[in-house]
Amino acid sequence: DTDALQAHFDATVARHERIEPRDWMPEKYRATVVRQVAQHAHSEIIGMQPEGNWITRAPSLRRKAILLAKVQDEAGHGLYLYAACETLGASRADLVDKLMSGRQKYSSIFNYPTLSYADVGTIGWLVDGAAICNQVPLCRTSYGPYGRAMIRICKEESFHQRQGYELLATMMRGTDAQRSMVQESVDRFWWPSLMMFGPPDDASPNTAQSMAWGIKRDTNDDLRQKFVDMTVPQAEALGVTLPDPALAWNAERGHYDFGQPDWDEFAAVISGAGPCNAQRIAHRRRAHDDGAWVREAATAYAARTLVEAER
Ligand code: ACO
Repeated sequence: DTDALQAHFDATVARHERIEPRDWMPEKYRATVVRQVAQHAHSEIIGMQPEGNWITRAPSLRRKAILLAKVQDEAGHGLYLYAACETLGASRADLVDKLMSGRQKYSSIFNYPTLSYADVGTIGWLVDGAAICNQVPLCRTSYGPYGRAMIRICKEESFHQRQGYELLATMMRGTDAQRSMVQESVDRFWWPSLMMFGPPDDASPNTAQSMAWGIKRDTNDDLRQKFVDMTVPQAEALGVTLPDPALAWNAERGHYDFGQPDWDEFAAVISGAGPCNAQRIAHRRRAHDDGAWVREAATAYAARTLVEAER
């Protein structure tokens, strides 16, 4: 009966063991995992656009090859994550439709423009750095297929972060103009990177339940602090200034103090009114429409293979 199933589920979560696709789970747990994993998948897919913007203008063959490979990795991450949602009975076509019609979210960060080539480095360093901070603990999430997808994704994200840092370090060893380009880029991306962790804990409607279910392993504010602590020494090593006058080491806490992002701006961006929301969705819709013939051909091929297999 349901009470026994619920007790078994609760005990599994309490032991920090995995919930697997065929296990009984509360409907709200299923819906929450689908929501978070779908948003994550959408972020990977939309996240291809800001950097994709620089592929044709990368300054050397080496940089172009790295950037192409990185953007392709993001597509791969999106696909594993859609597959993880499918293990919960979600349909990929339905999720994609929810993304394109604005009924599901994707990360706020990808609604900011990439105005200079330095942004490719900054996205690798700060945005992928924040992504790793958020995603390493998700390797231990309670839903098995999500946690296993995260392991490979984190390995690739670490490589992305390193390439971003290396790109910026190279530019910082260059001319004054290159150094200013890096600083200007870091100035634009710092606050939006802090917003990636989500609203402050006291304004986060999902954190408490998601932590109780082991879907999330840390709160938004704890991960944001971890990211700041990890990033400040890297900024010093690079020679860039993080644009926060409140940033200071607090020996008592053993952490850096830092200022708050503009949460009104965050609210606007996640409700569709950020600088590039309309452009990102229009581009995704166009790509989806352009791919219609591929889906038709794949469906026809699959149907024919099935008929032949049944003969
Ligand atoms: N961008 C867009 N939406 C956000 C963001 C953000 N940075 N932060 C929070 N939200 C949304 C939540 O998804 C939630 O949306 P809902 O209306 O569907 O409920 C709402 O704001 C309230 O926030 P929370 O209650 O804090 O939501 P949640 O518990 O899901 O925490 C978080 C948000 C931390 C982003 C979590 O979902 C998570 O860890 N997701 C997995 C990581 C991920 O998606 N990364 C994508 C970006 S990194 C990359 O792909 C390179």
